[in-house]
Amino acid sequence: MTVSSAPGKVYLFGEHAVVYGEPAIPIAIERRATVTVTPRDDDRIRLRAEDLSLNGITIEYDGTSDARPNVAVPRRLLDAAFGYVNEAIEQARDALDRSAAGFDVAIESELPLGAGLGSSAAVVVAAIDAATRAHGVDLDRTELAERAYQTERTVQDGEASRADTFCSTMGGAVRVEGTDCQRIGAPDLPIVIGWDGGAGETGELVAGVRKRREQYGCIAETVGTIGNLVREGETALAADDWEELGTLMDTNHGLLSALGVSSPSLDEMVWAARDAGAAGAKLTGAGGGGCILALDDSDRTVTGLSTTPVCAEAFRADLAETGVRREDEA
Ligand code: PMV
Repeated sequence: MTVSSAPGKVYLFGEHAVVYGEPAIPIAIERRATVTVTPRDDDRIRLRAEDLSLNGITIEYDGTSDARPNVAVPRRLLDAAFGYVNEAIEQARDALDRSAAGFDVAIESELPLGAGLGSSAAVVVAAIDAATRAHGVDLDRTELAERAYQTERTVQDGEASRADTFCSTMGGAVRVEGTDCQRIGAPDLPIVIGWDGGAGETGELVAGVRKRREQYGCIAETVGTIGNLVREGETALAADDWEELGTLMDTNHGLLSALGVSSPSLDEMVWAARDAGAAGAKLTGAGGGGCILALDDSDRTVTGLSTTPVCAEAFRADLAETGVRREDEA
C-alpha cells in the first residue's frame, strides 16, 4: 500500500489568460488530497472516495464507461471523479509499462470539487505518484508534473494549462507561462478563502472565453491585459507589497468579470471581503461559482465572509511549501 498527498492551490493572478500563453501565478495551499493505492491481482480499478461529494461510496469498474454503476450522486461529479482517476491510472500504467495493472484506489480530499482550489490536479498528482510507487517505480517530480498535466489535458479535451498540476506537484508559489514552469520565491501571504458551496464548469467556462476572444478584439486585448497585470504582480510579490498585490487582485477580478467568468455569489463574496477591509479580493480558478481569495492578516475578512449569506465556508489558507508528499514514507 502506498499513500501520497498533494496540495490544492489558489490563483493569485492569471487564470484563463494562462490558457493563451500569458503568465499566471498559482500558490499551493495547505489543504490536500490524499490517495491510497493497493495493487490488485486482476486488471480492475476499485475506487473509494470521501469528501468529494461522493461520500463513502465504493465503486468497482474496469475503466470502460458502460461499466459505471448507477449510484445516487450527480452524474457530473461522478464523471469528473471517474475521468480524472481513470486517466491518472492510465498514465501510471504507461509509466510502469504494465497496461493491465489493477489498483484499489481510495481518495480523501479537503478540497471542494470544481471550486477553483485545484482538487482535480491534487487528486491526479497524488494518484499517479501512489500508483507508480505501488509497483516500485519512483517518478521524479518533473515527470510526475508532466504526466499529471497530460491527464488533465486528456480529460479536459486539450483545454488545460500546466499551472494547477505543476503547482500541486512542486508546492510553493509558481510562475507558469506556456511550457515554462518555475517555482518562485513568495512571502507567506495572509490568504483568506470564501466558498459559495458550489462549483463551476471549467470546460464550459474555458470554451466561453475562447468564443468571446475569437469574436471580440477587445476581449483578446483583455486577455493580454491580464498578462501585463501578472507581470506587475510579480514585482509586487517579490517586494512583499501586499497592498499593491491587493489592488492588482481587484483589477484581475474585474478583468475576469469582463471575460464573463464571474457569478453573483463570487462578486458578493469579493465585495464582502473588500468591505471587511481585505487588501484585495478575486475569484480563483475557472469561476462561475466556487471560491474567492482575499488578503487580510486580521480576522475581519473571515468574520465578514462568515456572515455573508452566499458564503458557505470561510477559512485561512497557509502556503504549502511541500508539493507531492509520500505519506507512507514520512
Ligand atoms: O478551476 P480550476 O482550478 O480547474 O482552474 C482552471 C484554470 C483555467 O485557467 C481556467 C484553466 C487552466 O487549465 O489553466
